[in-house]
Amino acid sequence: MTTTAPRATALDMEQVGRFAQHVGAMLTGGATTAMMVIGDRTGLYAALADGTPLTSAQLARRTGTAERYVREWLAQQAAVGFVTYNPDGETFTLPPEHAAVLASDDSPAAMIGAAPLISGLHRRTEEMARAFRTGDGISWADQDPAVWESIERFFRVGYRNSLLTEWVPAVEGLHARLEAGCRVIDVGTGRGAPLILLAGAYPASQFTGYDVHRPSVEVATQRAAAAGVADRVRFAVDHCHGYPDRDVDVITFFDTFHDLGDPVGAAAHARRALAPDGILLLVEPRAGDDLATTLATVPLAPVSFAASTFLCTSNSLSQAVGLALGSQAGEARLREVLTEAGYRTVRRVAENDFNMVLTAQP
Ligand SMILES: C[S@@+](CC[C@H](N)C(=O)[O-])C[C@H]1O[C@@H](n2cnc3c(N)ncnc32)[C@H](O)[C@@H]1O
Repeated sequence: MTTTAPRATALDMEQVGRFAQHVGAMLTGGATTAMMVIGDRTGLYAALADGTPLTSAQLARRTGTAERYVREWLAQQAAVGFVTYNPDGETFTLPPEHAAVLASDDSPAAMIGAAPLISGLHRRTEEMARAFRTGDGISWADQDPAVWESIERFFRVGYRNSLLTEWVPAVEGLHARLEAGCRVIDVGTGRGAPLILLAGAYPASQFTGYDVHRPSVEVATQRAAAAGVADRVRFAVDHCHGYPDRDVDVITFFDTFHDLGDPVGAAAHARRALAPDGILLLVEPRAGDDLATTLATVPLAPVSFAASTFLCTSNSLSQAVGLALGSQAGEARLREVLTEAGYRTVRRVAENDFNMVLTAQP
């Protein structure tokens, strides 16, 4: 809502033009995200994945969709450079490198699972604008289901790429303990993707995932059964400082710690639950210790700060204490929280473009 006219100053019109182009690119991104969701839901990307040049009629036949819509969708995808267009024959091709990012969640480069997240943010703009005025939170349970779906799909790609091959080996002694058989608890487990990966690789260990969100716990339970690891993975509804376990070998928080209303309390509860030689493992979004560093070094900072506003900060503010670390809290701030909760020797053991991995000893 605009209430005041802009001040009349001499504008650098070239700069205005450049910035307008930048804003146009942002609008393109928003509109394209909606088209990506359509391509994902209707199987259009998957049907293009073998690289065959197809007309809109051929693609519509392959996918059982309406040609007139498919033609419009393909034109937009060509305009944004996702597919190439050949006017001779009016065919469209998805290059294999683009298919690796768009056509399936199974590729290590898959990003298509992130698209529904953006739809989910758009579906809460009214609630969010109200929260900006009141300061109230919005809990994870009150988010659009597209958000729950997207977090599972997009984060799972990163876990599949790094958890077993980079993060576990980076924590001294962890692989050996998991292989010998130990007890692992995952807090804020959501739909359980990382715990199910661990359970698949380490059949001698026992895994429990806790989350306050019952629908997520139910999906996680189904996923464990489908993955054939239900004998060693259990999911249950519980709060980050409610679970009763003691003498636990490993407690993990995968992209959850900063979402909690009371991360100090959650870390202190985990410390009491851990065995004296236990390991706390936090996987958090990679961020600098100050905003300037984060802006300069985090590739998806614009998306992260949007998600942090709508999901992470708002979930934390919906709970007691409401510390609201934000998704880009940074290592130094996380260290402070862990130290306040009584941990010693906090270490950063691994990182990639998206995540950093911290460990702490009780
Ligand atoms: C961003 S999701 C991460 C889910 C999962 N760890 C993953 O990486 O796929 C954050 C999760 O934290 C859960 N959560 C939020 N507050 C919680 C609390 N106080 N206690 C336990 N879980 C909580 C939410 O329900 C949600 O499933």
